[in-house]
Amino acid sequence: MSSEGLHAPRERLSRETLSLHHAIVSIKEELDAVDWYRQRADDCEDGALRDILSHNMREEMEHACMALEWLRRNNPDWATYMKTYLFTEGDITELEEEDTGKSAGAGAASSAATGATVPGRGFTIGAITDGGEG
Ligand SMILES: [Fe+2]
Repeated sequence: MSSEGLHAPRERLSRETLSLHHAIVSIKEELDAVDWYRQRADDCEDGALRDILSHNMREEMEHACMALEWLRRNNPDWATYMKTYLFTEGDITELEEEDTGKSAGAGAASSAATGATVPGRGFTIGAITDGGEG
């Protein structure tokens, strides 16, 4: 299966990167579909058709969440950020400060400064403070 969204020669990408790409592209498509169905439902004057469009919108939300869960299970960076920000309460922008002890906006630089280089990958990940995947 090909994808038009690759930004590097396919043969230079790892299987992991290709799988993550497939998931991310799928999530983008599902989110677009959610938006399209909601707008069509709003614009629809037939009540029965509006109900179907709204139902279909929720199905696309389900699909997007299934792929997001796949990302969480298969990529520790996604898992870390999801654990920090999802299903939380209060000011979302303050969660980074609570998580890192730094003010919002400084966290990315801080994570890069304290993160570990992934052997053989050439990128860094921030410190995981909760003992691993969750
Ligand atoms: Fe879908």
